[in-house]
Amino acid sequence: MESIADLRSRGGYSAQPATSLNLSTNHPGFLIVLEGIDGTGKSTQARLLTEGLQKQGFKVTQSREPTDGPYGRKLRESATTGRLSAEEELDLFHKDRHEHVETTIRPALNEGDIVVLDRYYFSTMAYQGIRGFDPQEIRRTNEGFAPRPDLLLLLELSVDTAMNRIGVRDGQGNQFERKESLQLCREIFHSVKDDFVQVVDAEQPVEQTHEAIMRTVHPSLTSLRARRAQ
Ligand code: TYD
Repeated sequence: MESIADLRSRGGYSAQPATSLNLSTNHPGFLIVLEGIDGTGKSTQARLLTEGLQKQGFKVTQSREPTDGPYGRKLRESATTGRLSAEEELDLFHKDRHEHVETTIRPALNEGDIVVLDRYYFSTMAYQGIRGFDPQEIRRTNEGFAPRPDLLLLLELSVDTAMNRIGVRDGQGNQFERKESLQLCREIFHSVKDDFVQVVDAEQPVEQTHEAIMRTVHPSLTSLRARRAQ
């Protein structure tokens, strides 16, 4: 496994080619994922986005990872009771996601819902990537069983602002949230190049970020309505 120093000396991760379509042809729903480092406000923005979409008449399923299921609970507990080994942690995130896909994500997409996720496999690329796994390998593994997003909203925040926000929230912060880890996670998130990626400035106040997200989502909603009208 690579150490953080190895990753630094390699200068981060290379970009990938764009390959995806704007609307999935595999299901009638629409999958929106919010990602970004700790402190970007994903949970608040996921809730506001869900409410905004519902106001426009869309049926929305909102969820998050790690989930509140057995594997997700174990992962959350491990954050307070001590770290799992990197292998155990990766295995649990994958088991949690398998279950999430089968019980929540795929059924909702098949029903035609808009699914809004607070974190998904890009977080595994980033956070388990910095524990030494190859982010591209993680991406391939996940895309073998988990639907690709139609839209990935990457909330963009400087590490300094993230540190300030986390400091206010968590006091000392925790191991996940140290500055260097945040920096490397950020690099991995930004290495994801694909048609479905949209970067949103999250330095702004909550309401402005929400408006930026609604503007970003708007063209997809128009396409979605057009597809449904056919
Ligand atoms: P989260 O509940 O979003 O924490 P918070 O609300 O405090 O930001 O996620 C918990 C942690 O789990 C977060 O630091 C990122 C990490 N994580 C991974 O390491 N891998 C993953 O695949 C996912 C989904 C999350």
